[in-house]
Amino acid sequence: MCGIIGIVGTAPVQGRLIESLKRLEYRGYDSAGIAGLAGGQVMRRRAAGKIRALEAVLEDDPLDATVGIGHTRWATHGAPTLANAHPHTQGRVTLAHNGIIENYAEIRERLAAGGRRFESDTDTEVIAALLDSELAAGKAPLAALKATLDQLSGAYALAVLVEGEADLILGARRGSPLVVGYGEGEMFLGSDALAVGPFTHRVCYLEEGDYVAIDRRSARIFDAAGRPAKRAVRVVPASAALVEKGNYRHFMEKEIHDQPEGCQRTIAAYVDPLTAKAAIPGGIDFAALQRIQIVACGTSYIAGMLGKYLIERLADLAVDVEIASEFRYREPSLSAGSLVIAMSQSGETADTLAALRYCQAKGMASAAVVNAAESTMAREVDVVWPIHCGPEIGVASTKAFTAQICVLTAIAVAAARARGRIDAAEEQRLVRVLLEAPRLIAESIELEAAVRGVALEVARARDVLYLGRGPMYPLSLEGALKLKEISYIHAEGYAAGELKHGPIALVDEATPIVILAPFDSYFEKSASNMSEVMARGGQVVFITDPDGQAHAPQGARVVVTAPRCDPLIAPLVYAPPIQLLAYHVAVQKGADVDQPRNLAKSVTVE
Ligand code: G6P
Repeated sequence: MCGIIGIVGTAPVQGRLIESLKRLEYRGYDSAGIAGLAGGQVMRRRAAGKIRALEAVLEDDPLDATVGIGHTRWATHGAPTLANAHPHTQGRVTLAHNGIIENYAEIRERLAAGGRRFESDTDTEVIAALLDSELAAGKAPLAALKATLDQLSGAYALAVLVEGEADLILGARRGSPLVVGYGEGEMFLGSDALAVGPFTHRVCYLEEGDYVAIDRRSARIFDAAGRPAKRAVRVVPASAALVEKGNYRHFMEKEIHDQPEGCQRTIAAYVDPLTAKAAIPGGIDFAALQRIQIVACGTSYIAGMLGKYLIERLADLAVDVEIASEFRYREPSLSAGSLVIAMSQSGETADTLAALRYCQAKGMASAAVVNAAESTMAREVDVVWPIHCGPEIGVASTKAFTAQICVLTAIAVAAARARGRIDAAEEQRLVRVLLEAPRLIAESIELEAAVRGVALEVARARDVLYLGRGPMYPLSLEGALKLKEISYIHAEGYAAGELKHGPIALVDEATPIVILAPFDSYFEKSASNMSEVMARGGQVVFITDPDGQAHAPQGARVVVTAPRCDPLIAPLVYAPPIQLLAYHVAVQKGADVDQPRNLAKSVTVE
């Protein structure tokens, strides 16, 4: 969840560490810090809060060094205070850590009993203390690192400075990602390729359990057993332009607007527009599959639910979808001949990764629908289905969600055809419908002005209900999740059919009820629910299409009219209005849209 950067450079590193930390801020922003080596001595600058607080510290007290590490924190152990900000120093060792050390309490107790004093409440500081003790016992830095790692259980990515070692940064990873960047006479460590992107595009992804020593010219990599290891160096394309906000106020706003183009890229990778056939790379035989198990968290889980609706209806192929954190500990019964699909924007979410590995250990074939094509999940599965929507920086997922749905829709069509549920003509029709999605998403985004008007009212609410049937039910969950995440208004998504089993008790004049109801086979029932709500004084925001508007009962407080579309792509077309609603409510309330409190973009701890 935290972000790490390390530079063994020839030029001053302060500005570059900060530049990199800003790119990593999506991983956490509770505190930030940098440390550098100058004349063999370590200097540290840290601040509670976001990176701009650290910048203010550096204005008064710059750090003059050509070798340094940096960290942006998402607090797990210990409050987000200055004392708990990384890097942490013990004796000769200063380090930044991403992950959780599970046995830190016993290590700390043991070292404290031996006279070691700790400055922070973090689990991280014990790593520095252990490593310092190993160095003090006379071990060379790499041997001391190995001896330290052998005593840790838990997850870590580390960047380490050692006093007296002017041309060295040590690194290690287990459970948390770490890349080595190869520059010209300079070397880098970072949580991801984005972190080192401004300095080099040549990166190597360390494997689980690897540790490394970098100097200005080289990286010496070792595997978990301590054997020298060779890891491929790849060129990761320049993505700098993709991580700028452009003319938008927030990344989330930009990413909502990116969706037509993003989905276009995604769809292009999964259908052939010329033949109008779905073409799913990876050679999975959908005809032979007995079940699909989707595991995911957060918005990716909701995309997975939509996948279930799409794949079961079109392809008559059973799909189970489960929240990864529940799945991994539930000892689920899994059938052989099933495929597990991990859905994850980052490809690093700890629970999803664990659930995926659980299924793999049971012998299931595996696939990952991910945005980060070089992520841990992508590297560990049999088949990778990248979503191609470009880096997503806003903590609340938007364009990754619609891109995930595009992939799942193409899979549903391909599976339906492979299983003989649709003929070639129907496949072509459905593919052509999917190819219309980017245009209709763009039209749907044009509802922004209307949605902004609704947002003024919703921003005053304490609670908001979202209702939908069929694929609009998962979408109602997503609408509620988006609103909660960024505007801090309590919101619930419900299957509209469940209204009478509980949520109707919440209906009063002060609770806006957003009903998602395209004019489809569910429409009449959704319209009845709308009447039930209005009869009890509920203020309905009705999101429908022109036909739905014509047939809706009178009395909705607001009607937002989305473009007409085939039911196949309704989740894609109805996603922008609910995203924009959450966005404009958050802006209205002055909330920090891209970095909502307590959240992080990539959750690499349980
Ligand atoms: C965090 C993010 C969400 C995201 C979820 C799953 O909670 O804030 O936006 O949906 O993690 O992340 P993943 O990278 O696995 O899709």
